[in-house]
Amino acid sequence: MRTGKIMLWIVGLCLLISLPAAADLTKGPYLQNLDIDRVTICFETDLDGQGAVEVGTDTGYGETFTGQGTAFTHDGVTVYQYKIAIDDRDADTLYHYRVVHGGVTTEDFSFVTEPDHLTPFRFVVFGDSRGGAIGSPNIEHEAAIAAIIDEGPALYFNTGDLVSGGASLDNWAYFFVAEHDLMANVPLYPIFGNHEDDEEDGLTGDDNWGRYFAPPDANRHPTYYSFDYLNAHFVVIDVEKWETLLVPDILQNGWLRDDLDAANENPKTNFTFAFLHEPPFSYKAGRTGNTATLLILNPIFRDYGVDAVFEGHDHFYARHEMGGINHIVTGGGGAPLYDFQTWPQPQTMPGYHAHDKSNHYMVIDLEPEIATLRAFRLDGTLIDEFTLEHDPPVWPADDDTVDDDTVDDDTVDDDTLDDDTLDDDTGDDDEIDDDATDDDAVDDDAVDDDTLDDDAVDDDAAGDDDDDDDGCGC
Ligand SMILES: [Fe+2]
Repeated sequence: MRTGKIMLWIVGLCLLISLPAAADLTKGPYLQNLDIDRVTICFETDLDGQGAVEVGTDTGYGETFTGQGTAFTHDGVTVYQYKIAIDDRDADTLYHYRVVHGGVTTEDFSFVTEPDHLTPFRFVVFGDSRGGAIGSPNIEHEAAIAAIIDEGPALYFNTGDLVSGGASLDNWAYFFVAEHDLMANVPLYPIFGNHEDDEEDGLTGDDNWGRYFAPPDANRHPTYYSFDYLNAHFVVIDVEKWETLLVPDILQNGWLRDDLDAANENPKTNFTFAFLHEPPFSYKAGRTGNTATLLILNPIFRDYGVDAVFEGHDHFYARHEMGGINHIVTGGGGAPLYDFQTWPQPQTMPGYHAHDKSNHYMVIDLEPEIATLRAFRLDGTLIDEFTLEHDPPVWPADDDTVDDDTVDDDTVDDDTLDDDTLDDDTGDDDEIDDDATDDDAVDDDAVDDDTLDDDAVDDDAAGDDDDDDDGCGC
């Protein structure tokens, strides 16, 4: 009897040794490139083999999409990057998914496909989340992610400097942990910052960017792209490689002008938002503004009537109008905050609207004819609010924008049954602020920047020489 038990233990041990090691996902899963009928689900593992994503409208799933990982080896360690396209989906539908790989099945996550009819939606913008490490978390970054999850956006954007060193695998490892609960369920649209423009230990920030992200426009360099979502056109620009990328493609090939022209010709879009890292002005002491943004991009934004440009680089909130274009600096996502210049004070500058030294994020609620943009501190208090208005876009007749019945089923509310997210009645019963009242917080401080960082102190791996007060540079 005793001998029999020993034999069973030995057989069991042999079986365990012969089985492949179970693999945890080392990154993700996370969503990229969402559309009406598809999304890309990305993850990384430390074990080769076929990866599978089970998908369905409930947790019974029902369909399985598979793909092979792309091997990447550095310092003798190999990981596998998966980008599995989930296509042939229905529009405006909640799907559950989970990843199965190497004997491991993840918990349940979800995504919602883009609607195919005109309806209000929300997106979030924040930036400069850099800092933190596995075992040494960036509290502000993680608090910002928790707050953004509570806002329930359809999409979210990071205006750059996602990590301190774009070439650092350790930095990215922490980033994917810090943002996991958000990016597993809401697609991230990242903007390449100067801290991503990094080189270390034989790796570059561009190498990592290309491995991790799957932007909508596969025909372009992955650090700049554009896409439509409902009635908005979004364009993401990389100003860090302005000599090698921005100038040839935007100035010589006219990509940005062609893109914005097409957006203006598209009757279904009536709002255009641009995203880049370094603004054309700065309220940070010792900084001016980014020359390429100021001299190359802003005139194009003006020519094509871009509604707002979201930026980062300065670790605070600021809103400034330049040449008729709204520039919004939202760099309060976790990097050490900057002080404002004291002379001239920001509020004395032409074009000034608002500024606030705080960790924060922006919520943009887009309705057919009005966009409401609000900036919130992480404690939920309001920093700034303003609206933009346009004539309604033109969508197919079956996607009605006028409500003439007693059952509210569209984006314009004109009856007594208020059952949508548009607030247009006297009884305020929703979360959307539809007034033009600006209840900005107070503000206060001046001006860098160039595409070549020239501040006095260099403290990061990206060749950044800003005169930073965070000991980290830029
Ligand atoms: Fe930056």
